[in-house]
Amino acid sequence: MSDTQAPSTQATKKCDRQFPPQPQGYLLFKLSELQDQPIEYLAHMWREYGDLVRLPIIPGFTFYLAAHPDHAEHMLSTHQERYAKPDVFIKPMSLIQGQGLFTSEGKFWLKQRRLMQPAFHQKQLVNLHDVILSCVQSLLYEWEDKPEGEVIDIAAEMTRLTLKIVSSALFSVDISGETDRLGQAFRTALAYVYYRMNTPLALPVWIPTPQNLKFRQAKQTIDSVVLEIIRSHRQDPTNKYDLLSMLLAAQDEDTGEGMSDRQLQNEVITLINAGHETTATALAWTWYLLGTHPDVMAKMQDEVKTVLNGSSPTVEKLPQLQYSRQVFEESLRLCPPGLGQPRVALEDDELQGYFIPKGSIFNIAHYFIFRHPEFWENPDQFDPDRFLPEKVNQRPKFAYFPFGGGQHICIGKSFALMESTIILAAIAQRFHIELVPHQPIEIDPRFTLRPKYGIKVTVRKRY
Ligand code: HEM
Repeated sequence: MSDTQAPSTQATKKCDRQFPPQPQGYLLFKLSELQDQPIEYLAHMWREYGDLVRLPIIPGFTFYLAAHPDHAEHMLSTHQERYAKPDVFIKPMSLIQGQGLFTSEGKFWLKQRRLMQPAFHQKQLVNLHDVILSCVQSLLYEWEDKPEGEVIDIAAEMTRLTLKIVSSALFSVDISGETDRLGQAFRTALAYVYYRMNTPLALPVWIPTPQNLKFRQAKQTIDSVVLEIIRSHRQDPTNKYDLLSMLLAAQDEDTGEGMSDRQLQNEVITLINAGHETTATALAWTWYLLGTHPDVMAKMQDEVKTVLNGSSPTVEKLPQLQYSRQVFEESLRLCPPGLGQPRVALEDDELQGYFIPKGSIFNIAHYFIFRHPEFWENPDQFDPDRFLPEKVNQRPKFAYFPFGGGQHICIGKSFALMESTIILAAIAQRFHIELVPHQPIEIDPRFTLRPKYGIKVTVRKRY
């Protein structure tokens, strides 16, 4: 049995006002273990106590691990009005992106969502296809100029690429010169957010501790790049149809007021952050999984060769790249960019027959749900055929939801799937990617589950 497998059966007594199973005592003294090795620690809890576990940290602060598709469906979909994103998540996250789409709820969230949704409609995405492709091609030209067999960190390359894509596609600005600095700043800031989420007694940001100072510097870098994006966009009146133009033109229905500069800045940071880090992390792990499964890599390359026949992955060809897309979906199952989705109960509720008091904070742990042995055969095995359409239909919807569900479902889902399929196909068409042997591969659990030491590969041109 693997580290992350659930017990095969779990006795679940159900009665009125009974809390879910829990370990004895408070977990305060286990907090560092939970912070440093959340996957291992929570997998242990899952194995010991089942799909719904109560984890009291200190008196007055308890959180819950929820690791069954029915829990996800209940909180994200059928009873979503009873749940919201909790302050312990929103407040630290707002230190980076203020109040934006990702960090808001209620009326304000709905207004912003309605405003931004049109930019992600299928019709608009088709227009973004060429921008994405040209960003990928410029990366491939860079690789072609490298000496044969040079080692690169493909995780870092994917970050550079997705940052360039998101800024070009959504804001019509090329930030190639800034991607390394910006990527690093986001990583520093996200690690800090993770620290604050897990440190209830952290000192306020204005106190100049070394950690706070490091965060403030990263935030300054993010703000300056984003303000420059907005400034240069305002100066160039030719960019009329991208997301930033929509945000600039947006007016409040009641007051007729446009977005303040601060609000605009928050949304641009939100979209750059949400739009690059997750996709880059998912792609990095996809290359790792392909590198460790040469048979899958060969099958994907065959598909790319047959479908594209030497041409570019155009928008018309994308639906035919079915296996490449399955590879990405399977990679998102085994290595999702986050451990789970946080929620707080807004009222007393009942879950799996257990009493859930108002204020309970959940980690809807999709990392475990995507490996739940009841829904996935040989869950630790990398097998893109799980995503053949006929197999997808046999599983409950919430056995797999890497983009979330319900009203907060990822606004960039179709964008990310299109972007990733183009990237995988365009790279596999022109290069062999081989993992450098014996390198350390570990997950950095601080927020997005990035590869801690990157992923070193050699890229060789295919002729
Ligand atoms: C593989 C790539 C991606 C993954 C796995 C992913 C995953 C997710 C998930 C799980 C959520 C829901 C969080 C929750 O409800 O707690 C979410 C929300 C969101 N995502 Fe993504 N995402 C990806 C790519 C993108 C891209 C490319 C963009 C933008 C260009 C984006 C923008 C957002 C935004 C703004 C939200 C908040 C939506 C709302 O609350 O209304 N994401 N994403």
